[in-house]
Amino acid sequence: MSLDPIAIEHLLDNLVEKGWYEWPEAISASLCLALLNEVINADEKGQLKKAGIGRGDEQQLNTEVRRDQIRWLTGETEAQAQFLATMALLQQEINRALFMGLFEYEAHYALYQEGDFYKQHLDSFKGQANRMVSTVLYLNPDWQKENGGELVIYAKDGTSVEATIIPSIGKLAVFLSEEIPHEVLPTKLARASIAGWFRCNSSTAQIVNPAH
Ligand code: OGA
Ligand code: MN
Repeated sequence: MSLDPIAIEHLLDNLVEKGWYEWPEAISASLCLALLNEVINADEKGQLKKAGIGRGDEQQLNTEVRRDQIRWLTGETEAQAQFLATMALLQQEINRALFMGLFEYEAHYALYQEGDFYKQHLDSFKGQANRMVSTVLYLNPDWQKENGGELVIYAKDGTSVEATIIPSIGKLAVFLSEEIPHEVLPTKLARASIAGWFRCNSSTAQIVNPAH
């Protein structure tokens, strides 16, 4: 397994200059379809849970802000292991070039049903430094603009729109978790993705800060 060195160069330049990058065809369609199959099966078995906002003990359900359903990846299937191995390579590349000290990666499947959305938010708050770099991989084949469900990237002050990203299969959106406000527009069709976060090691002897 390897990452396209030209794409990595663009990704690193864009993370430094703008704080985000849209990487089409980052992950093969065949792997995405295997992952899509897993989300669909998990949904059929009732294994997806309504997503909350906030972290740890402060987790709360707020369906005015966020309406997707999630399941954390464990790496226990071949498809998950392959995806996580690719993200581990990406982590190495980012650390090597940008010295970000990314330490681990956590990721969940997300399924947005018709009408679901996730209003503008940041994935991490400054000072609580743990989630440093966010990734979102899209899993639906043949996604059309009319289906909605775009990822909107805002300028760092949250006011103007910088980009509207169509969730096409194999595309990986990458952005700085503490700096880039973003939003998922209401989708008109079921929309499957894997959202993930590279974290730095913010645990100390006194405060243990677990993933999720
Ligand atoms: C998230 C998120 C974006 C997307 O899960 O925090 O912002 O395009 N997802 O699914
Ligand atoms: Mn987010």
